[in-house]
Amino acid sequence: MSDVILEVRDLTMEFGGSAGGLFSKRSEGVKAVDAVSFSVRRGETFGIVGESGSGKTTLGRCILRVLDPTGGSIRFRPKEADEVELAGAPVAELRQVWRKLRMIFQDPQSSLNPRLRVIDIVGQALQKSEGLKGKALSDRVGALLESVGLRPEFMLRYPNAFSGGQRQRLGIARALSTGPELVVADEAVSALDVSIQAQTLNLLQDLQEEFDLTYIFIAHDLAVVEHICDRVAVMHRGRFVEVADTKTLFANPQHPYTQALLEAVPVADPRMRGKRARRS
Ligand SMILES: Nc1ncnc2c1ncn2[C@@H]1O[C@H](COP(=O)(O)OP(=O)(O)OP(=O)(O)O)[C@@H](O)[C@H]1O
Ligand SMILES: [Mg+2]
Repeated sequence: MSDVILEVRDLTMEFGGSAGGLFSKRSEGVKAVDAVSFSVRRGETFGIVGESGSGKTTLGRCILRVLDPTGGSIRFRPKEADEVELAGAPVAELRQVWRKLRMIFQDPQSSLNPRLRVIDIVGQALQKSEGLKGKALSDRVGALLESVGLRPEFMLRYPNAFSGGQRQRLGIARALSTGPELVVADEAVSALDVSIQAQTLNLLQDLQEEFDLTYIFIAHDLAVVEHICDRVAVMHRGRFVEVADTKTLFANPQHPYTQALLEAVPVADPRMRGKRARRS
């Protein structure tokens, strides 16, 4: 069995271009993602960093097939199923894949419907695709809540009864509900206080072990990426300029853009300011 779970080749997402026609000239759009290639190994945490507008979210959305890329291929290899080509795949074919491929959003406030109880938010996919209800549903949702460190009886509450960190745990439980293999987390801890960030990262690491998950972890915060990722890709203007093991990347960045990105990191300790420790 291959240990590669996702293989992306020449992935391109161009917005607003037109092919041209009888009365219009062909126009170039914005290539938010431009011929990106990489592979993700089963069980690893693959980071994607880059400044705002570099194309990280667009790339994540293409992998989840919220967007259909304008070029290239995305091959997903779930454990006990055939490889699937996600680029251009019809929605009917994607329904099964979406169980194995889930997303954790940045803003748990706006991604949880305030009018639904937790049981209906976390259990939504279970109700829809497995037809679970009654005790079977509450047992499963209760177990999911416990696995993210929340009390099962919270399932009867509404999202506004929870803190930001707890809401992010609900988002994680919802992502886990379908038994995913690959989880794309886009700025999953960016909106949280620093102490809550650390707890959430630890939880994600524990869950990765427990449920054999692979993560694509999109973030602009390099300290977070350094903490959690096995490998990191640096994205700049729609392209990957460097992909390396996390240790290697931080100790010995090769590309000038990566070097600039690392040097721009604000240093928390005032005594260290002006001499950002380039780890060696
Ligand atoms: N639906 C869209 N239509 C047109 N252009 C878009 C669309 N979505 C994104 N873009 C453009 O694509 C580029 C990449 O945006 P994207 O949101 O992927 O960047 P990002 O790296 O996630 O930024 P951030 O760190 O701020 O989240 C930007 O120039 C953006 O304006
Ligand atoms: Mg983004």
